[in-house]
Amino acid sequence: MSFGVPVIVLKEGSEEVKEKEARTQNINAMMAIAETVKSTLGPKGMAKMLVDTLGEITITNDGAEILKKLDIENVSAIMMVNVAKSIDEEIGDGTTSAVIFAATLLQNALELIEQDIHPKHITHGYKLAADKAIKIVKEIATKISKDDDVVLKNAALTAMNSQDIAPLKDFFADLALKAVKHIEAENVFNKVNNIKIVKAKGKSLKDSELISGVYIEKEKVNPSMPESLKDVKIAVIRKKLDITKTEFDAQIQIYNPEDIQKFLNQEDQILQDYIKIFKDLGVNMIVNNSDISDKFGAYLAKEGIAAIKNVGEKDYKSVLKATGAKFIDDIKLLTENDLGYAESIKFEKIGDNEYTFFEGCKNPKSVSILLKGGLENVLTTAEISLNDVLSVIAKTIDTQMVVAGGGAIYMELAKKLKAYANEISGKEQLAVTAFALALEEIPKTLIRNAGLEEIEILTELRAAHKTDNDKWIGIDTITNTIGDNYQRGIIEPAALISCLIKSGSELANLILRVDRIIRASGAAG
Ligand SMILES: Nc1ncnc2c1ncn2[C@@H]1O[C@H](COP(=O)(O)OP(=O)(O)OP(=O)(O)O)[C@@H](O)[C@H]1O
Ligand SMILES: [Mg+2]
Repeated sequence: MSFGVPVIVLKEGSEEVKEKEARTQNINAMMAIAETVKSTLGPKGMAKMLVDTLGEITITNDGAEILKKLDIENVSAIMMVNVAKSIDEEIGDGTTSAVIFAATLLQNALELIEQDIHPKHITHGYKLAADKAIKIVKEIATKISKDDDVVLKNAALTAMNSQDIAPLKDFFADLALKAVKHIEAENVFNKVNNIKIVKAKGKSLKDSELISGVYIEKEKVNPSMPESLKDVKIAVIRKKLDITKTEFDAQIQIYNPEDIQKFLNQEDQILQDYIKIFKDLGVNMIVNNSDISDKFGAYLAKEGIAAIKNVGEKDYKSVLKATGAKFIDDIKLLTENDLGYAESIKFEKIGDNEYTFFEGCKNPKSVSILLKGGLENVLTTAEISLNDVLSVIAKTIDTQMVVAGGGAIYMELAKKLKAYANEISGKEQLAVTAFALALEEIPKTLIRNAGLEEIEILTELRAAHKTDNDKWIGIDTITNTIGDNYQRGIIEPAALISCLIKSGSELANLILRVDRIIRASGAAG
């Protein structure tokens, strides 16, 4: 019997018990994390109110958000949170499901271990099942075109069903779809962060709008600069705008008061020279990633040129992209060619923050979402949801493969994996079946959260998946009916399911393997 790691005969039974306890404790810590988020799954999931150490409150049912804020010490539980983080980064949704699945895989493994099945068989079986499941997802997923707006909107609506903005899902699905459609790229998902969401207090969420242009959270450097500009020529500069010693004539020596005046005149002259460069080119807006001295700012203001300073990399890059400007490091080399263009620029206060808004940019593809709402936490919750939805739409466009949600895909996978288990000999067969049951935990939780009878409905769903034509039969927990969820528009990107399977099974196998290493070294000591 060889499993690739030293087999160590334990001295006493008590040590074995300790090891089992350690594993049980780890898995229980993970189950506790899963339990925390389980009740939030699906359209009927409950939101959680999170209160941080400073007393700030967030109300959300977004798994990733809840997990981010939990104060977790147990190492395996932290790994569980990392599974959620990875699906959040890769898909932008599905964190709660991923945590439920990973935790159930481990719980089921624990049961098998208690029946004296060695972890090695379980990890092997889980690996077989995960590979097979990902293959099945690819085979049965429905191929769509990236212009299929009906499907894209349905994917957005499905992602929003379980969120607080659900009552406004139609409005936000249209808004998010329009926003994502503005991005033209090979990989839309990577660019979805470019859609800036600006939160504005005071009005209702329904007043939120898609705005063609770029918002930068910066105010003009000098209050007497113009409030707004028309027909704007923009210079993007990556250099401190000040007068540095090196720019003075080295010959200047101050012996008497006239010399001081000469010195000051010279400083003025240098500033005038810079301003002349801007004026000759018709520049009326400066975006600087570094500092602008007060004096320089005052000179610009006097000439009717507006400026913002210390603009972060992400922001000035979006200005470059939107306005077609090229950044320069030396003002003396500035040419017409380097300038960007916008029809107008406005400096405005939205909520508590000051913004510079570039409108009618050279590149009309730059968009921002102005999110309006009454309370700060309503806005924060809506922003979290909107980010998820933008990601889901982008992922669907990039991958062009979708499946039906509301448990349909998990029921179909479980059915196919149970059949696959029958083809496998040995103890791995039990692990493949345990894997299938862990997938069913997601529909089971959706049913439970809807207050329905879980065993009864699960049995009904199993029975309904007879032929391949039944693959999208699932539960709609808004109407509490069983039916073809694809036709009902409950749709998710197939990539979400593959990612969940991959990250959940990898975590489970890692934990199961780590336990064996602990056991070996513990026994040796
Ligand atoms: N009308 C519906 N009926 C039943 N299930 C639905 C419906 N709409 C969406 N769902 C399901 O709800 C689940 C998603 O729930 P939820 O958004 O709470 O969790 P998540 O996406 O796993 O995690 P999170 O959104 O917190 O990152 C998916 O399985 C999805 O198919
Ligand atoms: Mg979700």
